[in-house]
Amino acid sequence: MSDVFYRSPSAHYPLIAGGAGIYLWDAEGRRYLDGSSGALVANLGHGRREIVDAMAQQAGSVAFAHTQRFTSAAQEALGHHVARLLPGDLSHTYPVSGGSEATETAIKLARQYFLEGGQSERYRVVTQWPSYHGNTLGALAASGHLARRRPYDPLLSAAAFVHAPQPRSDCRGRAAGGWCPCVAEVGATIERAGPETVAAILWEPISGSAASGFVPHPGFFTQLRKLCDRWGILLIVDEVMAGLGRTGRMLGVEHHAVDPDIVTLAKGLSGGYAPLGAVVATDRVYNAIAQGSGRFVHGFTFGGHPVACAAGAKALEILEAEDLVRRSALMGVQLARGLHALRARHPVVREVRGRGLMQGLVLETDRRVPGGRASQLGQRAFDRGLLIYPGSGEGASPYGDHVLIGPPLVITAEEVATLLMMLDDSLAALT
Ligand SMILES: Cc1ncc(COP(=O)(O)O)c(C=O)c1O
Repeated sequence: MSDVFYRSPSAHYPLIAGGAGIYLWDAEGRRYLDGSSGALVANLGHGRREIVDAMAQQAGSVAFAHTQRFTSAAQEALGHHVARLLPGDLSHTYPVSGGSEATETAIKLARQYFLEGGQSERYRVVTQWPSYHGNTLGALAASGHLARRRPYDPLLSAAAFVHAPQPRSDCRGRAAGGWCPCVAEVGATIERAGPETVAAILWEPISGSAASGFVPHPGFFTQLRKLCDRWGILLIVDEVMAGLGRTGRMLGVEHHAVDPDIVTLAKGLSGGYAPLGAVVATDRVYNAIAQGSGRFVHGFTFGGHPVACAAGAKALEILEAEDLVRRSALMGVQLARGLHALRARHPVVREVRGRGLMQGLVLETDRRVPGGRASQLGQRAFDRGLLIYPGSGEGASPYGDHVLIGPPLVITAEEVATLLMMLDDSLAALT
């Protein structure tokens, strides 16, 4: 009998004992190929001594000093690397402890940006449905994810968060007034809410767990940016999952050639070595506060934690030194090719989509399968020693009909082939 309150108290959890590269193993010696980097977190692979050493060194000198009074070398290094690696003038890093905190922070930052400029009527955030931006109440209210929202619906602000439909994959980008039908729907959503009340559009560049690997059509983001500029709205791009090389570019939004005002990061930022997220602001957003009231009315006790920042700074150093963004693009081509071959062999796979090492499989829905097909496939894979990431709740369906495949960016061509073989086997066991 354990004293731990597990995610699912009715489930059995093997005791994790070790990890190296793309593999994990449990206390009973069972080995798992981490085909989803956990939840697309362990981008640098497991067991990286350099990161552990950087964290130990920081903890050995000072483990904690409140950011209300101090900065740290680790926090400075993290900010420096982010500013260097991210495009444009995304160069002001506000560290937090994870993706949900990053979403909350980005929303509050957008709100305060407008307060500084005297536009106190702006508070609404427009996001897409389906989407996932986190599980804290503000981030969940911003998320278009039925299954995760349902139990907490009465607690989620309907006034502040407005959902527009996900762009259509068959949209060719042409429509009346210069807007494609998808962007026109976002525009209509904003017009209904009142453009003067909207502070930000919050969007995933490539969808994560709410719509595994969905990529908005070419031109969609450019027009979304135009929509923002037309009404003076800020564009927040959620790069918690897609960011930092996962999709074969430093940021997912680079596939769309658009400059956001605010970006959220987490997951791969520390590669899972410490709980770490960040909000990165452009000069314009940062200066509104720095040259305005001079204080962002926000803050978490553990935001900017020196040991977490040390992990992040070292992770970014490795990402660059080992050219892992390019590697993600290269290995992603091989992975996608293999997944398309699996689709041809397994009719249960309806679609393959994604970029780089962030690939989604959309499965044919079968409502008779308890928990949905994706969770069943996740279990079949787990039984075979392969970890993948089942998604749930796309569109109106509370069922999971898609999975994410996203191994560590250090994966080799041989290891991609092994992953595909194990997935082939798991799919065969489904049908
Ligand atoms: C796109 C996206 N945003 C935000 C989050 C929330 O991050 P966290 O679980 O670290 O709070 C997630 C988590 O899966 C995510 O995929």
